[in-house]
Amino acid sequence: MVQSTGAKKLKCAVFISGNGSNLKSLLQFNKKKNSPISIELIISDNPKAKGLKFGKIFKISKKIFNYKNKIIAEKKIIYEINNKNIKLICLAGFMRILSKNFIKRFKGKILNIHPSLLPKYKGLNTHQRAISNNEKYSGCTVHFVNSRLDSGKIILQKKVKISKLDTAKSLSKKILIQEHKLYPAAISKVFSL
Ligand code: GAR
Repeated sequence: MVQSTGAKKLKCAVFISGNGSNLKSLLQFNKKKNSPISIELIISDNPKAKGLKFGKIFKISKKIFNYKNKIIAEKKIIYEINNKNIKLICLAGFMRILSKNFIKRFKGKILNIHPSLLPKYKGLNTHQRAISNNEKYSGCTVHFVNSRLDSGKIILQKKVKISKLDTAKSLSKKILIQEHKLYPAAISKVFSL
């Protein structure tokens, strides 16, 4: 358990690339008195990310970075993060791989949510791969980010049953519902006020 100093909340940035349903659940959690985090910034690599609308709805500033050049994008992100004194990064459907340098710089301060029961099905297309392998269960995992893809220390996982009728889409929906509960629970597990 990492103690955040005094009653101060841990300043946090959420990184997204798409719909941002996990961002929404984190923003709802953020409003709770007992949440150990204070979301200060939303970062995206995608100007068309639907989730960016939650910045406006929840009145949290957002920044979009052009990833044509990843090194430059990350430099700019680091500047923003330091500028806002961010102490925790939550990846929430951020579909870029962070550089080793970036990860080193924020060692132990980056969390990710992944739609499988890691270490199974790292990477993309997790739901279809689980179904094609006739898995009985899949699920989601919140973990620390290290330099190997989807391989950092696991904080929490939630199992979801795969039914015979499930498609990648239906399974993704079922798992997302659990993701929305798991991410706040994992943050509460690691950080306390
Ligand atoms: C979520 O299922 C998340 O676990 C996954 O992308 C989706 C984003 O949904 N992340 C990854 O696959 C990361 N490798 P959202 O934008 O609605 O939160």
